[in-house]
Amino acid sequence: MILSIESSCDDSSIAVTKIATKELVFHKKISQDLEHSVYGGVVPELAARLHALALPKILEETKDYFGELKAVAVTNEPGLSVTLVEGISMAKALSISLNIPIIAINHLKGHIYSLFIEKQECFPMDILLVSGGHTQLLHVESFDKISLLANTMDDSFGESFDKVGKMLGLPYPAGSIIEQYAKKGDEKRFEFTIPLQRSKTLAFSYSGLKNQVRLCIAEQENLDEQTICDICASFQRVAVAHLIRQIKKAYKDISVKDFGVVGGASANLYLRSQLEEFCTSKKATLHVAKMEFCSDNAAMIGRCALEAYGRGQFSSIEEIQPRGSSKIVLSKNYNLLF
Ligand code: KG4
Ligand code: ZN
Repeated sequence: MILSIESSCDDSSIAVTKIATKELVFHKKISQDLEHSVYGGVVPELAARLHALALPKILEETKDYFGELKAVAVTNEPGLSVTLVEGISMAKALSISLNIPIIAINHLKGHIYSLFIEKQECFPMDILLVSGGHTQLLHVESFDKISLLANTMDDSFGESFDKVGKMLGLPYPAGSIIEQYAKKGDEKRFEFTIPLQRSKTLAFSYSGLKNQVRLCIAEQENLDEQTICDICASFQRVAVAHLIRQIKKAYKDISVKDFGVVGGASANLYLRSQLEEFCTSKKATLHVAKMEFCSDNAAMIGRCALEAYGRGQFSSIEEIQPRGSSKIVLSKNYNLLF
């Protein structure tokens, strides 16, 4: 079995996965939403201290598996350095005390493998990664060959929901709350413009849309419940329309067979329905993760680690350090990620 640890942001999570069958035998996550909510976003130092309390508590519950562990996997990038180091320290301690190798996992690659928990991987696949930190369009050829087709120029998709939520006085993280408000709203009441409409650039941008919403809120004399719902619906419609437009642009003359959507914001059902329409138009299959595996979790890190384990991709204890951002290697044909 492999024990995996995730602490890249504000979720402390540990999983245990069987190597032979890919079965997830243990999975627990303690989220810190409530603690950060009062600040309207994640406070790194506070997150680190909460990981230091939560991770040992969860680990205690996995003791019965210790004898069967063949490796320990941990997220080492990208994320908040002070929180990554909490998981990394625990992984190093387990590696030394149980005498098992350590596997460093890229968090974004982990999100990709959320599609294959307890399943066989299916590549090549084109993937939209929408989380609090990233908005990327990826072409995944295989475990080791992932290319970046489009990236955000500023804010990420999930982050824009959080920031709009903050402006509306909603708690952090606001993504799913905005989705719920949007269900009761009129998506046509506020005419926000779709970002990068006239640009030929294949990229995403959310800071302009966020600013449009800010100005709209400032203009409201009465920010009543219905107005909040209408702003949420109008914002969500345009935020998703921007993703779909850029995706259509990317695949205008290219066929797509398998398209996946991953990351915390992939739980958004409106986004899923729009992607479903795109996939139908392309005769492609849309792949989504189970709701519980969309946001940060150690099960996806463990699933990704199974592939690394099979390839003998271990790291030395000295080598593993937290890295705030992922490296992107520019090669001749691709912008290779990881
Ligand atoms: O993947 P994740 O758990 O953490 C990062 O790696 O960043 O993603 C969290 C992000 C937050 O910004 C949250 O507001 C957003 O995902 N999110 C959503 C929804 N559920 C979570 N955004 C839009 N609609 C949702 N239903
Ligand atoms: Zn994430």
